[in-house]
This record gives sequence, C-alpha cells and structure tokens, in this order.
Amino acid sequence: MRLRNLKEKETYINNCNYLIKDYKSNIGNWSKIFKNNNPIHLEIGMGKGDFIYNMALKYPNVNFIGIEKYTGVIARAIKKYPEALNNLLIINMDALELLNVFHKEIDTIYLNFSDPWPKERHKKRRLTSEEFLNIYQNIFKGQNHIIMKTDNLGLFASSLVSLSNFGYKFINVNLDLSNSDIPNVLTEYEAKFIKEGIKINYLDAIKR
Ligand SMILES: C[S@@+](CC[C@H](N)C(=O)[O-])C[C@H]1O[C@@H](n2cnc3c(N)ncnc32)[C@H](O)[C@@H]1O
Repeated sequence: MRLRNLKEKETYINNCNYLIKDYKSNIGNWSKIFKNNNPIHLEIGMGKGDFIYNMALKYPNVNFIGIEKYTGVIARAIKKYPEALNNLLIINMDALELLNVFHKEIDTIYLNFSDPWPKERHKKRRLTSEEFLNIYQNIFKGQNHIIMKTDNLGLFASSLVSLSNFGYKFINVNLDLSNSDIPNVLTEYEAKFIKEGIKINYLDAIKR
C-alpha cells in the first residue's frame, strides 16, 4: 500500500475528482458543492479513509468530508478508494485551518484515534483541547456534536474533562465499543487494535 515516491503521491492527488484543492474558496457554500441540503459530517484526521468512505456508502443521505494533514496519507486513501461518491469529499489540510474553510455548516465532527499528545506541554495540540473546541464552535451549524473513538485512555480522560468544561453533555460514553450495540464503522487503526484485543473507548457529546 506504500507509495513509492513524491511523483506517485502527486499523481493520485492531482487525478482525484473528489479531493477539493481550492478548499478555502468554498467557505459557507459546501451544501452548494454537494448540491443538496443534507447534513454535513466531518472527520478530522481521516488517515487512509476506511471510516469516511464506508460511512458515505452506508449513509447516502449524509454528506461526508474527510480532512487529513499529510499528503502521503491522503494519497494512500485515494489509492485505496479511487471511485468518487456523490456524498463524499476529502481535503488535504490541517485542522488548524478549519475557520478559513467552514462557517456554521457542520452537523457532526468525528475524531477517530486522534494523536494523543500525552505531554502536558503539547496538550493544546489534542483535537479536543479548549483551543480546538473554540474553533469547532464556529463551524457547527447549530448544536455542536462530537463523536470520538480512541484506544488511548489518557486522551479519552482529558477529552471528557475538556468537553465537559466547555459545556458539552454526554449522550453516550462506552469503554468497550466492540462489545456494545452502538452502530459502528471501523477505522484502520481500530481494526488493528481490535485484532490485538485492545478495548476501544467511545463518546458521543452534544452542546446546544
Ligand atoms: C492515528 S491516525 C488515525 C487515522 C484514522 N482516523 C484511523 O482511525 O485509522 C491520526 C491521523 O490524524 C491526522 N491528523 C493529526 N492531526 C491532524 C490535524 N491537525 N489536521 C488534520 N489531520 C490530522 C494524522 O496525520 C493521522 O493520519
């Protein structure tokens, strides 16, 4: 699955008809790009795309956008999933840029196996830090809605505290997602962790 060189990565990126390159010019207009008013769900850190692509197949009445900061990683997602779907777009960008890309148009954010940034001095980089929750606040359309999965108990605990302090309420918290009846679509990391017998932590939180 590895891509041999930069040229091969660029070929995948340049020929992908569901990767949006001029993503900053669509702020406020994403429903027009999808040509419908269906809800828009965003995965931050989509990795190699298993979750976002299979979610788009499973829920055709939801529009999905996956973002990923590393070109090499998103190129591998395109290699694995070359066919465009009507309800899926992907963007090669860092979550730090979200305010320049979306304005009050996202219904749900998925954070799947986000980097844990365990050191105290790096805690602002966690995708559930107060800094990121402030960014998300401006891209949500109405009610804020975050669904998170992680193997990492440190990140999970810090996310519960951070979300609660920010005013989120928990609809569901589960410490063993694979053995629950919560509907679930696997990510690449999740499939690997399940094989290793590692339990998956899950939360579903809203802020009105
Ligand atoms: C541990 S991987 C998990 C990938 C995938 N979600 C999964 O569960 O298999 C985290 C991914 O998030 C991406 N990522 C981390 N920080 C990000 C950010 N600030 N903006 C966009 N992507 C980010 C990383 O490049 C990496 O591909």
